[in-house]
Amino acid sequence: MDHNVDTGVNGHTGVMEKVVALAKRRGFIFQGSEIYGGYQGFWDYGPVGVELKNNVKREWWKSMVYQREDVVGLDAAIIMNPEVWEKSGHLKAFTDPLVECKVCNKRVRAENEEAVSAHEKTHKDEKDIWTEAKTFNLMTEVLLGTTEPKEKSYLRGEITQGVFVNFKNVLDSTRIKIPFGIAQIGKAFRNEITPGNLTFRSREFEQMELEFFVAPDEKESEKTFNYWKEERLKWYKSLGINPEKLRFHDHEPEKRAHYAKYATDLEYEAPFGWSEFEGIHHRGDFDLGNHGLKYRDEIENKEYTPWVIETSGGVDRATLFFLLDSYTEDGDRVYLKLNPKLAPYKVAVFPLLANKETLLEKARNVYNDLKKNMVVTWDARGNIGKRYFAQDEIGTPWCVTIDFQTLEDSNVTVRDRDTGKQERMAIDKLSDYFQNILSK
Ligand code: GAP
Repeated sequence: MDHNVDTGVNGHTGVMEKVVALAKRRGFIFQGSEIYGGYQGFWDYGPVGVELKNNVKREWWKSMVYQREDVVGLDAAIIMNPEVWEKSGHLKAFTDPLVECKVCNKRVRAENEEAVSAHEKTHKDEKDIWTEAKTFNLMTEVLLGTTEPKEKSYLRGEITQGVFVNFKNVLDSTRIKIPFGIAQIGKAFRNEITPGNLTFRSREFEQMELEFFVAPDEKESEKTFNYWKEERLKWYKSLGINPEKLRFHDHEPEKRAHYAKYATDLEYEAPFGWSEFEGIHHRGDFDLGNHGLKYRDEIENKEYTPWVIETSGGVDRATLFFLLDSYTEDGDRVYLKLNPKLAPYKVAVFPLLANKETLLEKARNVYNDLKKNMVVTWDARGNIGKRYFAQDEIGTPWCVTIDFQTLEDSNVTVRDRDTGKQERMAIDKLSDYFQNILSK
């Protein structure tokens, strides 16, 4: 079965190709339904991929919810009453303008100048190859019920609407007051016509979003918009993304989503060009207004429709960009220079030899002890060099080797991923040493 599966590379070579190969080889990202030939725009995360992705989400939640007093969390359903999508404007306006090649019927996004001109080069002798741009709705329909006629609903096209429809529930069940935010992480689905570049544009993906509610005031809301722009930039930098590869790109009015008063994209310079990985949107009163929701300010004794400043990031895009940005070649050595907080495993424990019971027992004790506080992996196969090589490729910051000397003095060798340096350390100091770095 051929589903015209995207190789994930879209013609780009170099770092992208290497990271795609590494992602598969080491168990970060696999093509969805691969044994049936794949399924375009769907991806699965392997044993280390799920750890990396969970760590991205955990760090986001920590900084957006736990470290703040003015944000609470939510986890809304993926499928909602279809009326939500009617009111939110998505059934009418959640569209992508596409042009179709009259020669080979390939469709590309009209606004993607690079793809348009690349395709024109494949039909050098033909002129006027494009149809007029047509719009395609991105919502994914689902049919519910066991008897005909089935009820039509939608997989959510953005996780956001679940927050708005729970605005009153959150207010009534907490003591929170404006200005405040509701944070959410969850899956969204879009009928993307041109998925590609590994997980960059898929049909099933995850978003991490904050909807921050403010009083309707131009100046104050602009201040909040700028505040969140900076906060989000700081977050990516704090987790190690190269600042030179980050920039903001403001949306021109005609490119703004139907709900946005104004908007900017946080972009990363990927091997396939500057690409959005988070949108910061001023949604005004568009959504709460459409759903007929208001806020009662008890102190000022007035009622109004709040305005919304939104930060909307893609978990899969962030994960992909953390992978790309951390990919490092140093001579023959390849390693992922992931921030230890994001690394799938914090520590790998190695008994020097796999067939010496005394070494294995000592190493097991170290492994079990460290495992109480952090995610640790175990490797007893092959020689130590090969084990370092494998851990480098998945970004494990520290490898701990238990050798014959350890049996005498309870000291182990700790090898640092980035410098390759090795130092001896007492077993009872290990946990504090790693945790100290991880908590910074
Ligand atoms: N609630 C606003 C909203 O959904 P968006 O700019 O359409 O805004 C926000 O999407 C983020 O979601 C994007 O910056 C991107 O990181 C991620 N995203 C959107 N479509 C995606 C897709 N097809 N595949 C992967 N990630 C996607």
